[in-house]
Amino acid sequence: TKLPVLVTGGAGYIGSHAVWALHDAGWPVSVIDNLSTGFKFALPADCPLYEGDIEDAALLARIFAEQGTCAIMHFAGSIIVPESVARPLDYYLNNTVKSRALIAAAVGAGVPHFIFSSTAAVYGTPEVSPVAEDAPQRPINPYGMSKLMTEAMLADTARAHPLNYCALRYFNVAGADPQGRTGQSTAGATHLIKIAVEAALGKREQVGIYGTDYATPDGTGVRDYIHVSDLAAAHVLALEALAAAPTTSLTMNCGYGQGYSVREVLDAVDRVTNRKLVRQELPRRPGDADSLVSDNRRIMATLPWTPRYADLDVIVGHALAWERRLEDIRAAG
Ligand code: UFG
Repeated sequence: TKLPVLVTGGAGYIGSHAVWALHDAGWPVSVIDNLSTGFKFALPADCPLYEGDIEDAALLARIFAEQGTCAIMHFAGSIIVPESVARPLDYYLNNTVKSRALIAAAVGAGVPHFIFSSTAAVYGTPEVSPVAEDAPQRPINPYGMSKLMTEAMLADTARAHPLNYCALRYFNVAGADPQGRTGQSTAGATHLIKIAVEAALGKREQVGIYGTDYATPDGTGVRDYIHVSDLAAAHVLALEALAAAPTTSLTMNCGYGQGYSVREVLDAVDRVTNRKLVRQELPRRPGDADSLVSDNRRIMATLPWTPRYADLDVIVGHALAWERRLEDIRAAG
């Protein structure tokens, strides 16, 4: 049976891909989003959108009653590592305090299943790479800590109340809906692939490389880039797993288990566009780890997840297609 799902941050980048994945598979889906970084155009036309904040208990109670919500996918939050270093209290508010309000509302209304957008940033700088879920969790920035604190709240809540949860620790999410229905639309991008495709389309002069002296093969940061639609598919499968085993909670890395350096990513963009990006070598950015690559054996063993877009050039191609489409959307107002 397909349970009614509420997606927080559903008008945002990853959330909107999850909404489409649920919608395509026939799940009843509704969205709460304050539209601070999200867009209505990212959503299916028939998807109910509640404009508001996840700390609004009265609004949540109304949504749960109107939609019969049986599961929450919680994407709403702030996601920029360097911003979290500069404005830590905003991150603890948006990611920790407001998540607490949402979890409390879920418990109050008896919503049984909760899927949480966590992050590889909970590992800090891993001693062992690829990093597995039971590795030490020592975040090196407030972003990672704000998410780890929410994981802790969920673990304790699941022990005390009839709720099970799945925390998915995302590695570097990139790309866009292969059908071109949504993508990364937020202005002021900081994520590497988004910045690189903007530069490839002439929206930026150059791409900065933040650090060339990391302990990696070419000195630039290594990340495990995962296509956003594969990630969205993992959420739907995680929901099925939670519904099938209501007393079991899960914490799983979401990545392909393959790392690429900044230079390798920029090479991929050059290949896909058949041009050469202007690259500028810059100092390290605060809060960045050398290398973050997932050990993804747990998710591969737990969910029937078969990634469809595990190819850097495909990810870059979809990101580029969405970047072009965004120009049309913006031109149309
Ligand atoms: N980078 C550049 N130039 C840029 C942007 C990024 O060289 O213009 C480098 C970064 O220094 C890093 C890599 O590219 O080495 C990736 O940086 P992103 O900003 O794209 O992503 P982060 O790795 O900082 O963070 C992302 C998510 C986090 C998540 C983390 C997990 O934003 O939510 O991946 O790996 F926790």
